[in-house]
Order: sequence, then structure tokens, then C-alpha cells
Amino acid sequence: MPGEVQRGLEDVVALESKICFIDGREGRLIYRGYDIRDLAANASFEEVAYLLWYGRLPNATQLAELRGRLEGLRAVPEELLQEIATLPAGADPMDVLRTAVSALAVYEPERSGPGPNAIDGAQHLTAVLPTILGVYHRRRAHLPDLEPRRGLSQAAYLLYALLDREPNELETRAVDVALMLHADHDLNASTFAARVTASTLSDLYSAVTSAVGALKGPLHGGANERVMELLEQIGTVDRVEEVVHGKLARRERIMGFGHRVYKVEDPRATILRTWSRKVGEAKGNLRYYELLQRIAEVVHREKGLYPNLDFYSGSVYALLGVPTDLFTPVFATSRVVGWTAHVLEEYEDLRLIRPVSRYVGPTGLSVVPVSERP
Ligand code: COA
Repeated sequence: MPGEVQRGLEDVVALESKICFIDGREGRLIYRGYDIRDLAANASFEEVAYLLWYGRLPNATQLAELRGRLEGLRAVPEELLQEIATLPAGADPMDVLRTAVSALAVYEPERSGPGPNAIDGAQHLTAVLPTILGVYHRRRAHLPDLEPRRGLSQAAYLLYALLDREPNELETRAVDVALMLHADHDLNASTFAARVTASTLSDLYSAVTSAVGALKGPLHGGANERVMELLEQIGTVDRVEEVVHGKLARRERIMGFGHRVYKVEDPRATILRTWSRKVGEAKGNLRYYELLQRIAEVVHREKGLYPNLDFYSGSVYALLGVPTDLFTPVFATSRVVGWTAHVLEEYEDLRLIRPVSRYVGPTGLSVVPVSERP
């Protein structure tokens, strides 16, 4: 018989995984045994991607091979480029991304099914998402068409694809760190969606399409865009108290705060806060940082809530010139590594994910002819 209902599957242990561990009480995040603080200080996004996919950090040769492979997989099939060009310029970029990921499967069925080639699909998706975003964004921003480039790290290429300029070292490192911090997070909603899809023995591209859809929501990846809207709405530090109090009085959520798993500060927020300040200093613009700090103080004092990753990420992207509606798609260009690592793990130890609900609707009704129904 089904047990107690756990709304939102809160605290339900759904499966065993060797990929990611979150200690919500101590505020620790571990990828395959390595603390995120150690990785963010001493590794790169490509090393983290290797770690999540293969279960160990790469040596120099393996890292060079992976970098070369990702650089070589950046091109989008010509037919898909044409499809992206037919999408309305005002489309939500997450809709564009979801549509493009779904369409990509059509052009490469050999990479998409479960089996030994799924890792190729994982790497192709990781390599190609920045290109898809760049192609779409450059068209609507009237920037020159994107020619996929080699010789740039994933972080530098992502910025180049979006902004049509090569980022400097600090900008690249800020995004590199942000990508590492976003790469995986245990069974978050989008990763769970990916694993549910994969558990039916569906293909990797379908799983990632499900995940992009789940990430789009404002309670998940979409929160970073809402944080930026909040900063714009508040405007100046002296208005923080008034706006935050008003929202809390109306029982509105303050985006970028709270977390299902962390009961203390999200360690990713701690790291990104430093980068928000560093990038602000480099750009001579600490307005976002100062606003964020004041909001964090007020929300913690009033509600005891801590900021999460999304609270600081948007300020970094905005200072680099990334438009707000691309923040969640940028999140996806990193989380795709976690999604695909989980899908590969699911394929290795597959068990259809199929929970049950407790039925609380009516019973014993009889069908009345349609003409006699009120
Ligand atoms: N702003 C204001 N109050 C919040 C809040 C927020 N961001 N997050 C949680 N709370 C409050 C709830 O209102 C609730 O208070 P109550 O018991 O007085 O009603 C309490 O904290 C518990 O919230 P609950 O919704 O049960 O927590 P959850 O585990 O279901 O929610 C989130 C987790 C992330 C969905 C939630 O914190 C949220 O909506 N945050 C904003 C969106 C966001 O930043 N998402 C990115 C997550 S990385």
C-alpha cells in the first residue's frame, strides 16, 4: 500500500547516485567526492564536466582531448540553423533552446539513443548550446552571424557567442566559475525530469528537452532573471527596506532566497558573491553588489532566509553585458553536463521511475446520458 504523501517529494530518497552530494545542514556541495569550493578555486568548467561524466578528474592529456572535442562539436547542422532563423525574434530564449535541443535529435539519431554513444550526445549538446543561443541572440540583436570558434574555452566561447567580442581573463574566469557552480545539483527538478524521461529508455535528447522545460520555471532556473528584475525595481539602496517589506507583507516570494535542501547559506552563493564584487570592481560599478548585500541583510533579518545561487549569478552576467532573458539559458549551458551525467547513470542502472498518487477524488459515480446531465 502507498505510504504517506510527501508533497513536492520533499526529503524523499528516490534513487542512489554517485554524482553529487549536498549537505544542506553544513552548506556543502560535493561533485564526485570533491568540494565545490576546491573545484571553483582550482579547476575549470571542462575539468568539472569530465569529472561529472567520467567520475574522475582528467589528467592533462584527457583534458586536452575533451577540450578539443568540445571545440570541434560547436557547429549546428545547417538545417537546424534555418529552423532557428524561422523562430520569432521575440521568442523566449528558453523556448528557443528547448525547441533546438528537441530538433537536434532528428539530425543525429545515432547519438541520441541509450547505449555507448550517449556520451557523444552529452558532449555534443554541451558544445552546441552556446552556439544555439548565440545564433538566436545575435540575430535579434543585429550582431554579425556567429561563426563557431575553436581555441576558446567553453566560458570564453559562450561570452563570445553572445556578445561578439572576446572576453578578458577576469570575465572568462568569472563565467568559468559560474558554469562550474551550476553544473550539477543532485536531484533538482530539471535533473529529476531528465532522469524520469531517461528511465523509460527514451533517448538523451528527449531527457534534456524535458530538463530545459523544467529549468525554465521561476521557482527553479528562472529565479535569476527575477532577481535582476527586483534590482531594477528597487533601484537604489535606500529603497531596499521599503520594497522588501512590501513584498513580505503581501506574502510574495523574494526571488533568489530560500532553498529546499540548504538550511544555511548555499555555498555557491558564497562563492558567487565574491565574484559579483570582483566583477563589479573591475567594471567600476558596485551598484548591483551593494543592492544585493542590503537585500540579503533585510531578508535574513525579517525571514531568516539565506540567498541561493540565483541571487548573485545575474549580477555577474549583467555586468558582462549578457541580457537578462539569457540568464536561465546560460544556466542551461552548464547544467546540461549534470543532466547528461545523470542520464548516463540512469542508463547504467535503469529502473522505470513511476511513483503513485493517493487518490482523493470521488468514487462510485455512474454515467448519466449526456442529454440528462445538468
Ligand atoms: N521569499 C519569501 N519567503 C520564502 C521564500 C522566499 N524566497 N522561500 C521560502 N519562503 C518561506 C515560505 O513562504 C514559507 O514560509 P511560511 O512557512 O511562513 O509559509 C517557508 O519559507 C518555507 O517555504 P517553502 O515554500 O515550504 O520551501 P520550499 O522548500 O518548498 O521552497 C523554493 C524552496 C526554492 C521553491 C523557495 O525558497 C522559493 O520559492 N524561492 C524563490 C525562488 C528561487 O530563488 N528559486 C531558486 C532556487 S535555487
